[in-house]
Amino acid sequence: MTKSSNKQNVADRFALLTGQDNWSTAEACGLPSLRMSDGPHGLRYVIGEEGEEQIAASSVCYPTLSALGNSFDESLVYRVGQAIAEDCIRHDVAMILGPGVNLKRTPLCGRNFEYFSEDGVLSGRLAAAYIDGVQSKGVGTSLKHFAANNREYDRFFQSSEMDERTLRETYCRAFEIALQAKPWTVMCSYNPVNGVYASENRHLLRDLLRREYGFEGAVVSDWGAVKHRAKSLLAGVDLAMPYDEKCEKQLADWYSRGLISEADIDESVDRLRALIRQYETTEPLRKAELTDGQKHALAVSAAEQCAVLLKNDGVLPLGKSQKIAVIGGFAENPEFQGGGSSRVTCGKPLSLCGCLRDQGFDVDFAQGYMIRYHMATPFGLRYATDLAMQSDCAVVCVGNTWLTEKEETDRFSIRLNPIMEDLIVNVANVNQNVVVVLYAGSAVDVSAFRDKVKAILYMGFGGEGVNEAAARLLSGEVSPCGKLAETFPVCLSDTATGEARGNSYTERYSEGVLVGYKYYEYKGIVPAYPFGHGLSYTQFAYENLRVEKDSETDYRVTLTVRNIGARDAAETVQLYLADKASMVTRPKKELVGFAKKFIAAGERQKFGFTLTARDFAYFSPVSDAFYVENGIYTVMVGASSADIRLTQELKITLPDEEQFSQY
Ligand code: BGC
Repeated sequence: MTKSSNKQNVADRFALLTGQDNWSTAEACGLPSLRMSDGPHGLRYVIGEEGEEQIAASSVCYPTLSALGNSFDESLVYRVGQAIAEDCIRHDVAMILGPGVNLKRTPLCGRNFEYFSEDGVLSGRLAAAYIDGVQSKGVGTSLKHFAANNREYDRFFQSSEMDERTLRETYCRAFEIALQAKPWTVMCSYNPVNGVYASENRHLLRDLLRREYGFEGAVVSDWGAVKHRAKSLLAGVDLAMPYDEKCEKQLADWYSRGLISEADIDESVDRLRALIRQYETTEPLRKAELTDGQKHALAVSAAEQCAVLLKNDGVLPLGKSQKIAVIGGFAENPEFQGGGSSRVTCGKPLSLCGCLRDQGFDVDFAQGYMIRYHMATPFGLRYATDLAMQSDCAVVCVGNTWLTEKEETDRFSIRLNPIMEDLIVNVANVNQNVVVVLYAGSAVDVSAFRDKVKAILYMGFGGEGVNEAAARLLSGEVSPCGKLAETFPVCLSDTATGEARGNSYTERYSEGVLVGYKYYEYKGIVPAYPFGHGLSYTQFAYENLRVEKDSETDYRVTLTVRNIGARDAAETVQLYLADKASMVTRPKKELVGFAKKFIAAGERQKFGFTLTARDFAYFSPVSDAFYVENGIYTVMVGASSADIRLTQELKITLPDEEQFSQY
């Protein structure tokens, strides 16, 4: 190759290493351009810009990942992934920018609605199901945001600071599990981690992602996350998005100074070539088979599976002979997704009143509040309470707006807008049977009304089918079966981070591995509703726990669950493990497995799990490896983290020469 053609060739390769525009890879090195789109709870296919607003083509909006987290249902998430891929296929989108598996460290994080859970195992497994679903249709995914982007507050600057054990055991855990599904790409986050931007963080991108987790796909930057293209290339970012002319200049400069080599360039070029080849070779899988009606029906049934019945003092399901007051603007115009890059343009959800009337209920509506400039303002409180007074039951619809829960800002409070709290309390003063329907993407402080109402149905940000699902759940057509993937604390000050947001420079993750339920349990703080909690219209009996040993760190766990109530329903069984006496600080219990099964009234289902070394291990920075400590472990099976039904102890005795001394 002559010197001038090599120069040309280098420029061509540099072009490939950054995007062509906002959404596509460059047509370079003889390769076609690939289009990417957000994600993750529906396709956001941007077709234009109006001022600062992006205009997106219409597609189906499924429950957000936070709601899907509450489903604890891998097969559901797989099907949703497939359906989203079908929308991608119709628009020639090669890759969806999701799923997101950042952990919910604080309920204030404005993007919690885009993430599955506060637990790494649950997040990782559901993300793997999502990736499998999307990629089974020949469309790629981008597992994001790697790593430790747990707030929106000053996300481009503030460094997430933590010890290695916390990083490996907690914030990387979901990525590690989801990577087993081989996403085509991983997206690195905006923030620095331990002082080094994720886009330049070799420890994250090379030591962990590539070497330890075996990721072979391409690393894509978050949009604008690259500070210096050559430094990010050396750290392991293959594609900087979106197009930015400084990238090519920086690469050329460092190349001319001998700071990046041909091999450095080719490593990333080869990965992008492989990505494009992967898109080409999976062409036969790209078949869009679902009708619009089928996709909407999936959105409705997904919303049903995701809803969590937080409280029910016998008022639900609603009786057909009752006169029902539906109160609150969200009944007509529900919030069903958050704000920011994930926002899907879709059809408007149906009215809850309309859906209940279709099911034969006698329903009247009072607005109660109006949403103006995304804030609730009072609207006819007297009419609302009058209506409630004349009704047998009042269903009050409240929640957060998409400007409260959105990308780039965090919430300041986890309470509802005070107008909504007042409305509930006023209605509860005149009607004994109040049901609150809650539309939100993250935990809410319900203490203002929890004890004054008979039932709380948490719909999450439930997607376009949210009200159809709510009506079927309220009427008992289907039983609620969601479980909380995120603890509802009593109040913000009970959380590990309280009101803190960092100081714009650094934020210390001083609670370490004690995130979510692990923190509350360790500190003995009783939450309003614990992780894994969710009621049903039936009851389940847990029986016959057997823990069988295959090897010192391999066990099989089986049990039977009987539906002892009168209604068919699904139940999620949760498997937790606890190390009884560890040399390090460990959570009181950790989720290691879960499974959801539909059980007809009077029937029983067998559940089976396996435990392996990793389930017992903690990350030891001393040996730089996961380590299983000898001792007694408690296997716990429960209907929630706080409702353990069956337990059994087991003893691990690995050879003493492989163990650190304990005493
Ligand atoms: C978000 C990503 C998103 C990207 C493209 C960024 O601001 O953090 O999650 O995929 O924009 O819209």
